[in-house]
Amino acid sequence: MNRDTEIALCRRVLDHIAGGTTDQADATYRQPAAHYTSPERLARELDRVFGRVPLAVAHLSELAAPGDFVTRRIGDTPVLVTRDRAGALRAFLNVCRHRGTQVVADPRGRANGFACPYHAWSYGLDGALLAVPHAHGFPGVEPGHSAGLVPLAAAAAGGFAWISLDRATTAIDPAAWLGPLAAELDGLAIPAQHVHDPRVIELAQNWKLAADGALETYHLRATHRTTIYPLFHDNLGLVDVFGPHIRTVFPKRSIAELAGRPSAEWQLRPHANILYFLFPSTILLVEPDHAMVLHTYPVDTDRCRFDAYALLPEPPKSEKALAYWAANLAVFYGAVAEDFARGDSIQAGLRCGANRELLFGRFEHALAAFHRALDAEL
Ligand code: FES
Ligand SMILES: [Fe+2]
Repeated sequence: MNRDTEIALCRRVLDHIAGGTTDQADATYRQPAAHYTSPERLARELDRVFGRVPLAVAHLSELAAPGDFVTRRIGDTPVLVTRDRAGALRAFLNVCRHRGTQVVADPRGRANGFACPYHAWSYGLDGALLAVPHAHGFPGVEPGHSAGLVPLAAAAAGGFAWISLDRATTAIDPAAWLGPLAAELDGLAIPAQHVHDPRVIELAQNWKLAADGALETYHLRATHRTTIYPLFHDNLGLVDVFGPHIRTVFPKRSIAELAGRPSAEWQLRPHANILYFLFPSTILLVEPDHAMVLHTYPVDTDRCRFDAYALLPEPPKSEKALAYWAANLAVFYGAVAEDFARGDSIQAGLRCGANRELLFGRFEHALAAFHRALDAEL
């Protein structure tokens, strides 16, 4: 984040505190409840959004060395991302070309290549088919790329590995997709962080409710009353939209102390959580000394899954450091569990017809921006 942006964001927060205001839109927004329950809608989201736009799927620290790999499941698509021997980032459908078994079961690791667990067809880090046991039974199947793993476009930007599920796409430019946020994430040293404590979280809610729950400060007082709310302001947040992406700032009460100091000394990060919503479904929460990442994937209309992890400035090397981060993450996941419970609760009541539409208030306009961006892609 450049210095001018940082000072401008601090100033906006201080002005809101002084005026008792917050960022808000001119009007409310009505979001059809059916968008969270319709199988047809989900199919279009998977096809036209997840199937087309560049997706941030992992942090590059997990793909730093040749042989590093991660696997993901995005909707109904199993994906393998690797760093090949030549140092190139690669992505593939994680599906064996013999009879379709998922070749790599581990969520992450380092390997010289991959052998399918079913009949041991083997593949290189570049996806090429290396060997077929009893190959005489498969005339016409040759080692190499023709019967190799199906490739997907992959590239790096802002500290993340990005892929495209669009098989017609041979190259993606995630830095262009991120626009000015690419440099902003670089400026926050996101690429220099290290993944810590990766987790998979499954929820009984539509994937969009996870985003809805992350993009407004209106809920902090009621939902997080005894956990994190005491640190924050009530219903005070900044929202800036960058194409389909969104940056929100959740100021802490401590930011008020900047008002008495010259702006040359202002620092935002010690006094606010900065949340980047990278369309369509990656949440990057930048906290004072680390960040949290949640990649959200649809599973069904009423189920979603998160690949979640912390990004730390360095891997914890001592018991003390491990304990520090464990305590920190316990606070985060405790608060997030409160959000997740709200999302599950909403989903469970969506089909009863109480609300044909969900109503987003003027200061819940980041949700509206997200749904407008989604509608535009659809
Ligand atoms: S399905 Fe993979 S080797 Fe047979
Ligand atoms: Fe929350």
